[in-house]
Amino acid sequence: MHQPLKELRCSLPVTERCIYLQTGSLGPLSRPTLQAIHDAEELAAREGPASPDGLTPLVQTADAARTALTRLLNAPPDTVCWSLNTSTAMRTVIQSLGLTGTDCLITSDQEHVATRSLYNGLCDALGLTVEVVSTAGDDGDFLERLEQSLRAGRRGRKIVLLSHVSCIDGRLLPVADAVALTRRYGGVSLIDGAQAVGQIPVDLGAIGADFYIGSCHKWLLGPGGVGYIHVRSERLTGFNPHWLPDADRAAPTAARLGEVGTTNLAQRAGVGAALAQIETVGMETVATHSRQVTQRLRDGLRQFRLVQVLGPDDPVRTTGLVGFTVHGWTADDCRALVERLYRQQRIL
Ligand SMILES: Cc1ncc(COP(=O)(O)O)c(C=O)c1O
Repeated sequence: MHQPLKELRCSLPVTERCIYLQTGSLGPLSRPTLQAIHDAEELAAREGPASPDGLTPLVQTADAARTALTRLLNAPPDTVCWSLNTSTAMRTVIQSLGLTGTDCLITSDQEHVATRSLYNGLCDALGLTVEVVSTAGDDGDFLERLEQSLRAGRRGRKIVLLSHVSCIDGRLLPVADAVALTRRYGGVSLIDGAQAVGQIPVDLGAIGADFYIGSCHKWLLGPGGVGYIHVRSERLTGFNPHWLPDADRAAPTAARLGEVGTTNLAQRAGVGAALAQIETVGMETVATHSRQVTQRLRDGLRQFRLVQVLGPDDPVRTTGLVGFTVHGWTADDCRALVERLYRQQRIL
């Protein structure tokens, strides 16, 4: 194993007690991340949270963490702002678009419950049309269906909201092609990177999405309560989700427009420490290691006659998030297995 990766694993207290597999829901914190959060809280408590010696260094640390995130994502520094989590980031972006009942939201059948709740709510509140495009078949089939939806003559705007990596079966969706198609038909693209960032290399310059969102508490191994929004430079002037007055919008950056009010700077310091560890390991190393262990897991699961591993088999089209079903099992049976694995094997 590549040494920095081993060091990262050894810095996670949970690995002393468990085999930890749940990074797609909540990633575990490392000791340096815990320390950074503690140090930030300690500084604020010692110096006074609003004093120059308490507040200024914490703001600088949080800003440095944001810059580190833009580096990881290959995004211009001014195009990323903090949010709370992916669900809030998604709603913030949608809020900034000022949708009406004539608009149409196009999405896929691989989306998280937070997305489904959002578009069902938008349907109820605004009466806007929602089209769910099937991902059956290969990427070409999906893109063809997406193009049909985009081409359909409608009066309003078309918002394409897609996961980068499916939380259902771990597949990679062809987001760069989907974004290019959306732009060709004059639509707005919003990509949900909750299961991608920290798991696979993500190049926002290459994807070109109008908006890209995610959370730091999953594959980035950051604390809960910190998410982010990337706003493509060309969209910055129109991005005003919190109704800031014109004067405040003179020199637009995503942070100036997307972050309002008092927040928890210690959590962002924790994200900075987590990002520093990931930067040391390198995303290519993370992705290569993930591919290897995922292959072992998929091969192992296939040996059980009743198990069906979900998603594409091609390692190029899938990720370290593995979904599977067990023939004849109910949701209670699945929950019982999770409980048994934890209690008896310390597999979490
Ligand atoms: C693809 C996807 N989108 C959104 C979410 C919601 O993320 P959060 O809980 O950070 O709002 C998740 C959570 O698992 C997810 O997997």
